[in-house]
Amino acid sequence: MLIARDDYVIAQDWQAYRPAEHHTWRRLVARQRSRLPGRAAPDFLAGLDALAILDGGIPDFDRLNDILGKATGWRIVAVPGLVPDDVFFAHLANRRFPVARFIRTPEQMDYLEEPDVFHDIFGHVPMLMNPNFADYMQAYGEGGQKALGLGALKQLSRLYWYTVEFGLIETAAGLRIYGAGIVSSAGEVEFALDSASPHRIRFDLKRVLRTEYKIDDFQANYFVIGDYRELFDLAQQDFTPIYRALENTSDINPGRLLPADELLQRGSGKHHASSRFTKRIL
Ligand code: PHE
Ligand code: FE
Repeated sequence: MLIARDDYVIAQDWQAYRPAEHHTWRRLVARQRSRLPGRAAPDFLAGLDALAILDGGIPDFDRLNDILGKATGWRIVAVPGLVPDDVFFAHLANRRFPVARFIRTPEQMDYLEEPDVFHDIFGHVPMLMNPNFADYMQAYGEGGQKALGLGALKQLSRLYWYTVEFGLIETAAGLRIYGAGIVSSAGEVEFALDSASPHRIRFDLKRVLRTEYKIDDFQANYFVIGDYRELFDLAQQDFTPIYRALENTSDINPGRLLPADELLQRGSGKHHASSRFTKRIL
């Protein structure tokens, strides 16, 4: 694919999607929707409802942007797939969320290595309708640009992973999912909340910045926030001294517990002890 612009933005070319691709989208939406009640965070579900046009087929990005722009000033832009870190951060810092144009094939319903239009839109856009979360994402883009200059990308990426992609939130009704990588995954929606295997640990910034993650399997630990304000507040902190303090600490393997961890649920570790598969499920 030709990259015409240095921001990697391409035309969505909505007319070019084939009926089979819209069909795949509708199957994915119906499957996830059936699993989300009682599991997805209320804010995620509210965002999803407000984006009513998601049910018809792969949405026209311009129409989605009318709704999203009015809600939080964010918009989505089409890209061919994953973009370089600096490009990604520049988009976020300007309240643009890059979305892959392509959709997975029917054979990839459960297994996909690279985010597609379904993960990017269904997973991420509902939370971008939430004002606190929307501001957090913009700040993350700015923080990413700064982290690149400080050589701290590895640490900051873990924050994105354990919040934006795999975050859980505690509500009065129990734990709920807000992370895009979970809500767009058929298997992980259940695993993240119902499995006895993973640890569910109270979110702690420094702890998360030290914790490695699995990109090819369900997570061995999830971090739980109390509300989105917590994310917004941590974004206001200057991370430079935090990165510096972390230079003298070791990385933490996924699934390992520390004495200082505040555990909501201690996991059995069973899944990762027996799982010989490695697959990324978005
Ligand atoms: N404020 C952080 C810094 O100074 C950046 C950041 C923003 C990190 C939002 C995470 C989320 O580097
Ligand atoms: Fe994602």
